[in-house]
Amino acid sequence: MCGIVGYCGTQAATPLLLAGLSRLEYRGYDSAGVALADETGLSVYKEAGRLSLLTARLRGGEGFSQTVGIGHTRWATHGKPTTANAHPHLSADGRFAVVHNGIIENEAELRRELLDADVTLRSETDTELIAQLLQREYQGNVWDALRRVTARLTGSFALGVLYAGEPETVYAARRQSPLVLGVGDGELFLASDMPAILPYTAQFVPLEDGETARLSADGYTIYGADGEPITRAVQEADWDAESAERGEYAHFMLKEIEEQPEALAATLLPHLTADGAVGDEVLPLTAETAQALRRVVLVGCGSAYHAGVVGRQVIERLAQLPAEAEIASEFRYRQPMLDRHTLVIFISQSGETADTLAALRESKRKGARTLSVVNVAGSTLAAESDAVLPTRAGPEIAVATTKAYTAQLAALYLVAIRLGALRGTMEDGEERRLTAELRTLPHHVRELLGTAERMHALARRQQALSDAYFIGRGTDYAAALEASLKLKEISYIHSEAYAAGELKHGTISLIEEGTFVAALACDETLLPKTLANVREVRARGAWVLLVTTDPDTADAADEVLVIPQVEPLFQASLSIVPLQLFGYYVALERGCDIDRPRNLAKSVTVE
Ligand code: G6P
Repeated sequence: MCGIVGYCGTQAATPLLLAGLSRLEYRGYDSAGVALADETGLSVYKEAGRLSLLTARLRGGEGFSQTVGIGHTRWATHGKPTTANAHPHLSADGRFAVVHNGIIENEAELRRELLDADVTLRSETDTELIAQLLQREYQGNVWDALRRVTARLTGSFALGVLYAGEPETVYAARRQSPLVLGVGDGELFLASDMPAILPYTAQFVPLEDGETARLSADGYTIYGADGEPITRAVQEADWDAESAERGEYAHFMLKEIEEQPEALAATLLPHLTADGAVGDEVLPLTAETAQALRRVVLVGCGSAYHAGVVGRQVIERLAQLPAEAEIASEFRYRQPMLDRHTLVIFISQSGETADTLAALRESKRKGARTLSVVNVAGSTLAAESDAVLPTRAGPEIAVATTKAYTAQLAALYLVAIRLGALRGTMEDGEERRLTAELRTLPHHVRELLGTAERMHALARRQQALSDAYFIGRGTDYAAALEASLKLKEISYIHSEAYAAGELKHGTISLIEEGTFVAALACDETLLPKTLANVREVRARGAWVLLVTTDPDTADAADEVLVIPQVEPLFQASLSIVPLQLFGYYVALERGCDIDRPRNLAKSVTVE
């Protein structure tokens, strides 16, 4: 969604802001702008559409000498994606400039108040209201005005603010929307997302909810919700700048698909002990607490929810506990029954997804035990959960997740094994056998990257399809959910995933001559059942791709892809790889904007 970059230092700010914004493009946006400060006042430049339009207009920053500024990429919520609605927004007197991520929920009331006071509004945004309110609240101290204004806002915000009277300063504030200070040598950055500033510094200080900050080239001060200054240790991001660059790849998505063996190894190996166990740091619960658990709930959105669907089966099997996967936006509103005997696992790449965060807060309020599986260190979800198990996939830039999803699966396998060990619900030797299997996953995934050419050829043949169905049972169904989403979100082909046994209850009526069906059948105990479903759809004309571990299925479908066999509980980590490639190549053949699919955002920080 929206992105924020800010700079104050001694270098020209404009090229740095534009470069930072370009690294935030992946978040999804529809307009962009910058505000620059110097002794002569504030200058604002904005353009609807691609950032390249703004960059061209500013000649990449050539001739702009200001050393302080803020920039923004906007993903429209209040008002259309026009230049007038793009950020930064100015107060009527032109003295305050504001960039904002998030949504102000009492926007209508604030708008009415300003209109009643005869303030002329120049946009349809909630953000402009903040700039206008700052002008009205200002009585000689920007920070006081900022505190008074933010106290009046309901909803979520990360703010970057410039004031013409202090052209060396950037102000910041946050509530429920991420913001970090990047600490350089004699310069400071502000960013909604680390990749924006990684080429300049890996040192960062996250702002927490309710905090405000004041940045200038000389240093920064963070103030807590109570107005008192706060000292917080500077952290170091373990992501290097290169890992957030596309390099020789045509798309981040392909690069990230290929990075999966390393992402899996980095997520798994630190937790596998030499004697074949999963380390106790994976889940900081005592055996007594683990044994007293009555339920596990896995919560996430999009692909993270799909990872939860795999996780619930693995946990149920190994830890012998009822486990459910829940969509965060549903879970949070249905007054879930939770108590201290419930473990709620939150799954999120960004650690900032609004619904997942709200679900965490609701779970904590009800006394459940919380664990987050998160890819971004220092994210809000990581900060607020009782415990964190990091996925170490590195920065993921493509909107369609690949390596973060498979790293989430890996993390959930670790949790399941550890829970099983703590509860004593696994057979003798099972932990050793399962951890040995886990060690083989990076290798098998690398092998499966070798299916790229075949998947590309298949994509060429199938690129014109208008509907697709992905079917499977058990963890194959869970993988089918993710495979279907991958195809749909980047190629704009209508696609659905079905539990194979459910097809006959309605959806089979959609199957006709040539309909594309991908059947996943990697769990051999369920193979005969799924093959029966394949026969049913083929009998009605479907064209079937079968992904299976059984080499004796050559005649069972129009195309059969045999993949390596591992422990059935872990099989989704392998079957998804060729289907990620299939989705990628179909979108490529159709000429889609793969890394930035229409209407989508990488990180959904509003409800
Ligand atoms: C967006 C992304 C998905 C992601 C989902 C949840 O929809 O496009 O790839 O699965 O958000 O994001 P999270 O950061 O919480 O994993």
